[in-house]
Amino acid sequence: MSTRRDLPEAPYLAAASGLTSSRIPVWFMRQAGRSLPEYRALRAQNTMMEACFDAELICEITLQPIRRHGVDAAILFSDIVVPLRAAGVDLDIVAAVGPVIANPVRTEADVAVLKSLELARIDAVSDAVRLLVGELGDVPLIGFAGAPFTLASYLVEGGPSKLHERTKAMMLAQPATWHALMEVLTDLTIAFLKVQLDAGVDAVQVFDSWAGTLSLADYRTFVLPHSSRVFAGVADYGVPMTHFGVGTAELLGAMAEATGRRPKTVVGVDWRTSLADAATRVGAGTALQGNLDPVVLLAGWPVTEKAARAVVDDGRRALGAGASGHIFNLGHGVSPTTDPGLLTDLVELVHSL
Ligand code: CP3
Repeated sequence: MSTRRDLPEAPYLAAASGLTSSRIPVWFMRQAGRSLPEYRALRAQNTMMEACFDAELICEITLQPIRRHGVDAAILFSDIVVPLRAAGVDLDIVAAVGPVIANPVRTEADVAVLKSLELARIDAVSDAVRLLVGELGDVPLIGFAGAPFTLASYLVEGGPSKLHERTKAMMLAQPATWHALMEVLTDLTIAFLKVQLDAGVDAVQVFDSWAGTLSLADYRTFVLPHSSRVFAGVADYGVPMTHFGVGTAELLGAMAEATGRRPKTVVGVDWRTSLADAATRVGAGTALQGNLDPVVLLAGWPVTEKAARAVVDDGRRALGAGASGHIFNLGHGVSPTTDPGLLTDLVELVHSL
């Protein structure tokens, strides 16, 4: 384990740790991405996968939104499928589609093949983290990984999916195969987080973006034990850990449970649930992150300003209801058609409130 930076004044780390911060911290999921012309210029010369395996490019793309927006945290530029790729799974990230898997995982034999996979070093990622820690000054760096369920959904479907039909069918009809797959993915997720933590990231976020497709009962039976193992597997690093998903109103309590409700845990909330409601669902002592609807930014500044003020007010109510902190974010990633100038204005507004 490497020595980590000590950033006691960083508002993001303070809010995530249940301490008083000097201002409401703000960052955006997918802040490094297609909303930025400087990102599109770099991507025109490199595929997504090339960019994810090049330390200099990872570093540059991670820094772009920091320079432009003055956000309170950087998120490592990478993708949830990078550890799968590094372990040898044949996949690509196809523009405007997302991850596409050459040989989807559908049977016990397919899972057996995955079992032999091991995440070796990912030098580009660890080198990029070390470079970034040197470049970022007092801005914290968030590392991340996909949660086992969301990774499984890509592997089983073979690509993006709306209803996750094959994934849920495997889960329900072949529970032993399902749990074996989740075991493998849990190990891979822990390993990918450790690569980043050992290189010096200041916090981690686990993206279970598609868990909201499950009932609470199925989440508890088929997902929670594995996601819990992810958080337990990196808890010793003692850094803030965020658990995020979309459409998870009914799952928020279970998602908080998966973090182990250790000190410095954060649960991400989308725009469908008010932060005040989320605070009662996750239970006291956990911080919340969210939850402006990213589509609001497509409606222009007056609408964005009003909605952002409402999120900040809702965050204050959440603190009153027992949340240990509020980190302003969108309820999901920045839409590629967002005017980046509005994001900069939004950071300034939240900091002024
Ligand atoms: O700025 C950041 O948030 C950090 C970088 C980041 C990316 N992907 C870069 C990316 C992060 C944290 C992710 C996580 C990720 N990847 C998730 C979880 C978060 C979420 O949005 O729910 C998921 C589900 C994926 C899988 C994935 N990769 C999708 C759905 C897509 C988008 C497909 C599309 O083109 O609309 C990708 C590609 C991807 N990952 C892009 C970026 C910047 C776009 C790549 C491009 O074409 O330039």
